Amino acid sequence: MNQHTVIAVDGPAAAGKTSTSRALSDMFTLSYLESGRAYRTLAYEALAAGIRPDDRAAMTGLISTILQKNQSDTLFDPTRLRDSDLRTLDVSKAVSTVAKIPDLRSAITSLIHEWASHRPASIIEGRDIGTIVFPRAQIKFFLTACAEERATRRHRQEPGSVYETVLADVVRRDHEDTSREASPLRPAADSVVIDTSSLPLGQVIAMMSEVCRSAGMIEKRHTTGAAR
Ligand code: DC
Repeated sequence: MNQHTVIAVDGPAAAGKTSTSRALSDMFTLSYLESGRAYRTLAYEALAAGIRPDDRAAMTGLISTILQKNQSDTLFDPTRLRDSDLRTLDVSKAVSTVAKIPDLRSAITSLIHEWASHRPASIIEGRDIGTIVFPRAQIKFFLTACAEERATRRHRQEPGSVYETVLADVVRRDHEDTSREASPLRPAADSVVIDTSSLPLGQVIAMMSEVCRSAGMIEKRHTTGAAR
């Protein structure tokens, strides 16, 4: 493996990208980046500032202002905004519109490149990581699952949510993500596609880690109590 190793994990909403990426980041000592956080943060900030997410000029102005006042990784910073604020239905709706703006996508792609350039090995989840952001990533995964299964999982993770509402949001986002003109969601030709519909999380992680090992990645050694 050469110096800057990148593993791309793409796929539709709630396909298991976050859980599996976090597990692999721990197993193989990789820095982890959730690229969707940048899109969600912009959608959140727009709603808070009264900016319409489809106002492309205002949205481009918003990202410039944020980046003038903060460090380049601020949109990825997990401590900047709470997950509960970024995962409301309003933000989930607005983010699909935000993610259609080509100038914003280019700006976020540059921020991801900048972030990865400071890390020897990383695992990055999103929608376009293996196709647009890192078309030469060493390993590419595309996780998918049927909409009903993904909605069931998200419904379980979000106490108080209504299954039908979650399913409608999953189906709507699938449509928006796959049909947009700029960087639509699709598997890279050289990605390992895993349909997780009927697979337990542990099995998906086992399949992905096997791909990583076959590509020459070395697993972190776990020290046992007896060995200490
Ligand atoms: O991964 P997520 O569901 O938190 O992402 C939120 C939205 O951001 C998703 O609906 C589409 C967009 N997104 C994107 O267009 N490209 C990425 N690399 C990551 C997310």
